[in-house]
Amino acid sequence: MTTFVFPSIESQSEPRTIPTHRVSDVSVNEEIAAAVRDGLASSPRHLPPWLFYDEAGSRLFDEITCRPEYYLTRTERGILTTHADAMIAQAAGDDRLRIIELGAGSADKTRLLLKAAVARQDSVVYEPVDVSPTALDAARQRIESEIAGVTVAPRVMDYTHGGRRALTLDAALEGQRRLVLYIGSSIGNFEPEAARRLLRRVRASLNPGDALLLGVDLVKEEATLLAAYDDFAGVTADFNLNILARLNRELAAEFNLESFEHRAVWNAAESRIEMHLASRIAQTIQIRALKLQVDFAQGETIHTENSYKYAPGQAEAMLDEAGFTPAKTWTDDQRWFNVSLGIAH
Ligand code: AVI
Repeated sequence: MTTFVFPSIESQSEPRTIPTHRVSDVSVNEEIAAAVRDGLASSPRHLPPWLFYDEAGSRLFDEITCRPEYYLTRTERGILTTHADAMIAQAAGDDRLRIIELGAGSADKTRLLLKAAVARQDSVVYEPVDVSPTALDAARQRIESEIAGVTVAPRVMDYTHGGRRALTLDAALEGQRRLVLYIGSSIGNFEPEAARRLLRRVRASLNPGDALLLGVDLVKEEATLLAAYDDFAGVTADFNLNILARLNRELAAEFNLESFEHRAVWNAAESRIEMHLASRIAQTIQIRALKLQVDFAQGETIHTENSYKYAPGQAEAMLDEAGFTPAKTWTDDQRWFNVSLGIAH
């Protein structure tokens, strides 16, 4: 199971390890409570996408990545399958690589790069960075049992934060370069300014010559984009609705999932897919643990996610602006997805 850390729609997320208090029969996580109070009181209403990723949501996300309409995962995997050796060679130069991944990593894609690194230098240290110790443990067991020559050194860290909680990486040893992986289009779930901040933070944690491999989804035909976020089997709808199910479980909310509908919208002006939940009827929802009552008009929506799609060249421009020289971009035959390598200067 893969876990992700995402910012709220409007701003960066707050820490995951947050005090809890008990209200009647549920233990309330203060971070979730604050996000829900704030998001549902706003106009238009919104909820932060990190709320998707409880256990059920992470499982649903893994299922999404296998849906035929969700081209992102298989397209990026195809690019890595073809070019992993070249990516590793270009990032390494004459040195040995140490590989760091932001997010615990979806096993199969990361595996391609780790295998290429082992083939080149016999062994490699792989440092997955994630906020979830469980996800890191799963990644460690999976990778170490499957690829001889990889030593996994997990780091529990919320890399989306700046300031006190800034991303800090172990210094490179003599003759070693670090390659940071930020693949899977995860950058697309950040607002543009937050994405730029994150890349600058990654750069600040590296030395000149270290590298960043960035996977971004490209703008394409609207129907293709919409289908990816509204698959026929309804897995993405379940994933979106799980956010309400989570509030029912964790905040004793009384959302009837049948009375909300999943919507995916292409916002061409902002170059992003938006996910919303629309109330099918006029209704009042109780969120008992927050002693909160929310009135929904018929058709009123909760905005749950943005997924930005980039123009060709845009990832390279972002890398450049963050302090990386764009070294090479690999793409697929249809030019649907880009994986770009930037070298820190
Ligand atoms: C995790 N992230 C890159 C996914 C995306 O495509 O934006 C999340 C997702 N939301 C709906 N489907 C997948």
